[in-house]
Amino acid sequence: ASLADSDDDPRDFIEKMKAGKKRIIIFYGSQTGTAEEYSIRLAKEAKAKFGLTSLVCDTEEYDFEKLDQLPEDCCAFFVMATYGEGDPTDNAVTFFQNMCDESFEFSKGEHKLEGLKYVMFALGNTTYERFNYVGRTLDTNLTEMGAQRIGERGEGDDDKSMEEDYLEWKDSMWEAFAQVMGVEEGQGGDSPDFVVTELENHPADKVYLGELSARALTRTKGIHDAKNPFPAVVSHSSNLFTSDERSCVHVELNIEGSGMTYQHGDHLGVWPTNTDVEVDRLLCILGLHDKKDTVIGVESLDPALAKVPFPVPTTYGTVLRHYIDITALAGRQILGPLSQYGPTPEACALLKTLNSDKEAYNNLVGKGCLKVGEVLQYAAGNDITVQPTPENTTKWAVPFDLIISAIPRLQPRFYSIASSPKIHPNTIHITAVVLQYESTTTEKLPNKFIYGLGSNFLWDLKYTANKDVKEVGRPMHPPAYAVRGPRDLYVDGDFIKCPIHVRRSTFRLPTNPRSPVIMIGPGTGVSPFRSFVQERVALAKRSVEKNGPDALADWGQINLYYGCRRETEDFLYKDEWPEYTRELRGKFNMRIAFSRQPPYKPDGGKYYVQDLLWEDRKYIADAIINGKGYLYVCGDAKTMSKGVEESIAKILGEAKGGSAEVEGMAEVRMLKERSRYLTDVWS
Ligand code: 2AM
Repeated sequence: ASLADSDDDPRDFIEKMKAGKKRIIIFYGSQTGTAEEYSIRLAKEAKAKFGLTSLVCDTEEYDFEKLDQLPEDCCAFFVMATYGEGDPTDNAVTFFQNMCDESFEFSKGEHKLEGLKYVMFALGNTTYERFNYVGRTLDTNLTEMGAQRIGERGEGDDDKSMEEDYLEWKDSMWEAFAQVMGVEEGQGGDSPDFVVTELENHPADKVYLGELSARALTRTKGIHDAKNPFPAVVSHSSNLFTSDERSCVHVELNIEGSGMTYQHGDHLGVWPTNTDVEVDRLLCILGLHDKKDTVIGVESLDPALAKVPFPVPTTYGTVLRHYIDITALAGRQILGPLSQYGPTPEACALLKTLNSDKEAYNNLVGKGCLKVGEVLQYAAGNDITVQPTPENTTKWAVPFDLIISAIPRLQPRFYSIASSPKIHPNTIHITAVVLQYESTTTEKLPNKFIYGLGSNFLWDLKYTANKDVKEVGRPMHPPAYAVRGPRDLYVDGDFIKCPIHVRRSTFRLPTNPRSPVIMIGPGTGVSPFRSFVQERVALAKRSVEKNGPDALADWGQINLYYGCRRETEDFLYKDEWPEYTRELRGKFNMRIAFSRQPPYKPDGGKYYVQDLLWEDRKYIADAIINGKGYLYVCGDAKTMSKGVEESIAKILGEAKGGSAEVEGMAEVRMLKERSRYLTDVWS
């Protein structure tokens, strides 16, 4: 590096913008990559529409204190996701505190932001109580500090359709943007993000074949996190259901020697791979079937706008297998650029329609649950229900660089950890229902089975790891996933490996064992509570060893409310719970609602966990109000966690001599604020 380079402060975005003649800075707060993707799209649109280049920034990596120095002809974009119950994403914690917390300098009025022009797009999920809390709060604070927002604040709702919200918002935002910034449309142009080059005679040991970190090939040691997942041996795997229709995998992953640690309540990120059939489908469509092992280099034409999303050099086949998400529902926006490359005018026209007509898109792609490859096959008149081959698949002339920029990177799937490190220091356990269901027939398409990528990947690890899976009375998912992977990443002798990383959480037991604990987790929502109970079992053993059999006398009660369909079908970890009760000398109790076996309610309805909570209302009110107890809810966010919250509000409202809506909800809010009502829910 030259002397000048070493003087550069990598956190100084003002300098970078000046050097690169950029007029837009886009800050993103992103947890799983969605906000980052939208940032990149906004940057690309600004370039295509107005010829303006942007600096796309991870909030963590820049000195936002310099915001007040942004030149007048520039504009800041904030693309901020709200995570969980209303938290900033990990990469935006410091930024958000500094901007919005009164105890921090920046927001105390030390910095005036008069003259700062900004655009706000907030991403969140209405299933959670504080919808778009981060984006909304930041918006208010920026305005209070004197900044001027361009257009309306965009609000994406992941529960409905983030994409539709974005599409509906952006056009009027760009109009307002053009006016305020004094720029005109039509000054840009559609330019590719990447160049893809086929490389001959490249040394085979320097080609990435599914490794998720650039470090993997240089063998530099480093901690294992989201940027460097650890390939863990699957040491055990089994099916916990006895049902012909559904399966639930319990997987134990060995972390010995990885340097990884975990705690009860943490999440495990699992990095799946795409199925053979979907990889083949795209290889055939792109005419790359014979070239799947051809080594390619990928370079970004504007690294600030678009980073190459995976390690290179790699191969065509690897990109489709391991690096991009070809299994997701085909996004409406990606069909536009692809429409230029159809084999016939009709195919091009159909993609254009699907891109611009929301209803047509919902009817075909939405209802039919079509993946991008299936849309292209369907548009060309191919049968999407048969194994794709070069003979039965029409080729599209889509350049590979467009595939890389249009299809998002394959993301990890997160599971609540089901084991305690105090009992299982060397393995991490997870539990997942294998997602398989039939799509409904539409006018144009027959029924077909839909397979969730993450859980079927885990199921397949089991299949390959144990070789003992009997076919059950339903169609298996399409031919095996490529768990027989490159090098030692996915196999180790006879063992199968799975790339993982641990994500920390705040879902934790109270430190004082005297506090009563109420855990509510029907279905696989029970997984973190297995880890909670194991945690307490380990602690109890130690206490009893040290202080004798009465050591647990003043411990609080730990109650688990669990629900499943039938005792003999889907009762998770059924044999383990009585043992935990013994180890905890009765301090652990379990209540179970079987929803599809007698007894039913007097009116014939199903028993759910909420009904058991209501039956135990006296105990619960006492444990929470007088015992200063803790509540934990895990599982389905859409209906279960809402139903449970209503039930708790009703119980507490009644105990306080008021109503569920007023006194009850006030109590729930207070508990949440004090972190005594914690949730780990998903939709
Ligand atoms: P069901 O499928 O018979 O309706 C785990 O999935 C358990 O949670 C099942 O017994 C399921 O019952 C039950 N369940 C479904 N919806 C629920 C809700 N809204 N609240 C609580 N439990 C629910």
